Amino acid sequence: MNCPRLKNWFWERYNIDEIRDLVKQKSVPKHKYEIWYYTGGITLFLFIIQFITGMVLSFYYVPHFEHAHKSIIEIVTKLNMGWFFRSLHHWGAQIAIVMLFTHLWSTLLLKAYRKPREFVWVSGFILLGIAIFFGLSGYFLLWDERAFAAVRVATGGAGNLPVVGGFIKAFLRGDIDVTGDTLTRFYAFHVGILPLVTLCLMVLHILLVQYHGMSVPVSIKKEKLKETPFFPNFVYKDLIIWLVMLGIVVTLATLVPPEIGKKADPLAPAPENIKPEWYFLFLFQTLKLFPGEILGLNGETIAILLISAGILFFFLIPFFDRKSQREERSTLFTWIGLIYFLYFVLMTIIGFIS
Ligand code: HEM
Repeated sequence: MNCPRLKNWFWERYNIDEIRDLVKQKSVPKHKYEIWYYTGGITLFLFIIQFITGMVLSFYYVPHFEHAHKSIIEIVTKLNMGWFFRSLHHWGAQIAIVMLFTHLWSTLLLKAYRKPREFVWVSGFILLGIAIFFGLSGYFLLWDERAFAAVRVATGGAGNLPVVGGFIKAFLRGDIDVTGDTLTRFYAFHVGILPLVTLCLMVLHILLVQYHGMSVPVSIKKEKLKETPFFPNFVYKDLIIWLVMLGIVVTLATLVPPEIGKKADPLAPAPENIKPEWYFLFLFQTLKLFPGEILGLNGETIAILLISAGILFFFLIPFFDRKSQREERSTLFTWIGLIYFLYFVLMTIIGFIS
């Protein structure tokens, strides 16, 4: 559509040329690891799918423990394309988390977190934590017996943290046990608080990336480095990859729609062989490695303390990796990253088959 009057109207008020020049100046380094530069954009695209499908579902979902489960059954069975939107929202979330982990490990192994990009890593890591909480809170909205048991275990586990555990557990549950009040809280998190915080952090994360430009791995010789113009070359490739991702999500949503379990009964015992979502399996499996009591102390509390220390170390990696800060190769942190990765994969596989 060519509309010169509209264009002039904007040009008279805003200096669009300045923005255009800024975009034209931007370029992306070209080297053998450049494929990993697309992972952040894919994550962004999947989050957009989640926002759109989530808004559609929120028109029909009823956030009350007596009606929640039934309202989802009605979305799936009575609403035109309702099953498809629910399925898209489910698979979009699964793949977004896969892509988030891929993005995290690629930036870790390429040491993209090194000076001056520490806050890009920190803001990204918080986004990962939020994405996982998005997953848990969304799962609970289904109000089926598996989701109910998963939230009881997860909030109970958080309660085992010394000092702050009791507060976190009560804050999340909104009651002494998991009840309809927990559903109200998780709904508020899922559709209000988390999207808002995510949006702010995502803007910060991406602005920081624009400010610093893309990092180049230490092993790549900077003198011989070529650059790809961001617009249109990189953007076109981004769009092609997004289209492929959309194809994958739509195919999975169509062929493998998620099931709905039996409505939760807060008074019934947890169903047998209950397992959390796949991205919690490594935590679940780690907890199982610890005996009930170690030297007279609660084994689960010790496990949760060790897991928290492991996560905190991971979060602060840019500040510990001194060699990368000096633009030197840091094999130790490559190994640490690989060990974290292998541990995560191994525990997830054991969790699946056990
Ligand atoms: C909602 C979640 C996230 C979104 C939408 C997002 C988006 C992006 C985008 C668009 C980029 C620029 C292109 C790229 O390198 O792929 C980027 C870069 C980066 N992200 Fe993320 N990201 C997210 C989560 C994370 C997480 C979990 C981490 C790690 C803890 C992280 C760490 C980084 C780093 C270090 C860079 C700089 C890469 C470089 O300069 O080479 N991000 N992110």
